[in-house]
Amino acid sequence: MLKDKKIILGITGSIAACKAAYLIRALIRKGAEVQVVITPAGKEFITPLTLSTLSRHPVISEFFSNRDGTWHSHVDLGLWADVMLVAPATAASIGKMAHGIADNMLITTYLSCKAPVFVAPAMDRDMFAHPATQQNLNKLRSFGNHIIEPTEGELASRIEGKGRMEEPDKIVEQLENFFASQNLLHKKKILITAGPTYEKIDPVRFIGNYSSGRMGFALAEICARRGAEVTLIAGPVSIATEHPGITRIDVESAEEMYLEAITTFSDMHAAILCAAVADYRPETVSAEKMKREDKEAITLRLTANKDIAASLGVLKRKGQILAGFALETKDEMIHALDKLKRKNLDFIVLNSLNEPGAGFRTDTNKISILDNKGGITDYTLKSKHEVASDIVDKLQTLLK
Ligand code: CTP
Repeated sequence: MLKDKKIILGITGSIAACKAAYLIRALIRKGAEVQVVITPAGKEFITPLTLSTLSRHPVISEFFSNRDGTWHSHVDLGLWADVMLVAPATAASIGKMAHGIADNMLITTYLSCKAPVFVAPAMDRDMFAHPATQQNLNKLRSFGNHIIEPTEGELASRIEGKGRMEEPDKIVEQLENFFASQNLLHKKKILITAGPTYEKIDPVRFIGNYSSGRMGFALAEICARRGAEVTLIAGPVSIATEHPGITRIDVESAEEMYLEAITTFSDMHAAILCAAVADYRPETVSAEKMKREDKEAITLRLTANKDIAASLGVLKRKGQILAGFALETKDEMIHALDKLKRKNLDFIVLNSLNEPGAGFRTDTNKISILDNKGGITDYTLKSKHEVASDIVDKLQTLLK
């Protein structure tokens, strides 16, 4: 799995930097190409000579080469890599990564890196447990970075606890598993709807909802990373898509989203309907801005929008997989099961607005997946990227 993979290994100033030597050896043995980028503090713990000998590449640390003044391009390096691994990652470097403090070559490379990033923290127990570190790690998770959890044991401070960098062979195993999962959706065509819809009232007003689109965009990104050709129909959101595997269609209203979904679905292997589609739209749209005219109350007549999920449920052919979402405030299970059946879905992702950290306008989500065979799986509170990964895992098992 790691043969010919180009890996940037970022090393920061921790006693665990000595394990980086074993890590490089293990990666090279698997056929990977390793380029080390080390922080100035990292060099206090392991010498560049050791690292360049093992990796068979000069180690990069400064923006300029001391000898000939050559400029090391962090942008080129970021584009070169198939994966970036920061191991060991200190609390300071994790903080800089989370906040974009680009004061050394490693952080600038991280900020320029288009490839997936793995971070293996190494620090004292209390530093790791501190809310500042945990918030920074959650921030990295929300960027889609993978955190390799440290293990428990005796730490350099002689304190026992969680903070030891994961062992090199276990880190290599995680990278291998990651690359193994990469191509599982190769050539699969997946339709995803995301974000809210805006239903026009007049030229300046609309009916909308709080959906940010983050969950749907995370799903699109994960599917694309696993090799799928994704068609993302997005309502009005302020998120960019970068992966070349994603074809994005921007729409505004439920009607526009419906038309795009209906036309593209027949070609798809699967569809994940993540959009918070408005159930109703104003029956008439005023051509001019509506005036207040001193009225105490006004009535807006609404007419039903088409149900995209239910319409695709009718069109669904054998072998096509259809997944939906249910965001509920009460009787969650009953409503979710009803939607699963009514819309002819293969599975439904339930999130409750009563769960702290779940639902709209958060970076995290807590879900249960209910499938049409009666299976129910509950997941813990995770970043939306990790949740997306769990959902795509479920989709993969059904597409096999
Ligand atoms: N959905 C859709 N088109 C609609 C309404 C909903 O495709 N017009 C999809 C959503 O994307 C989601 C699922 O159906 O995957 C459930 O959406 P939800 O709004 O919870 O369901 P509704 O059927 O609208 O039920 P209610 O609003 O009564 O809870």
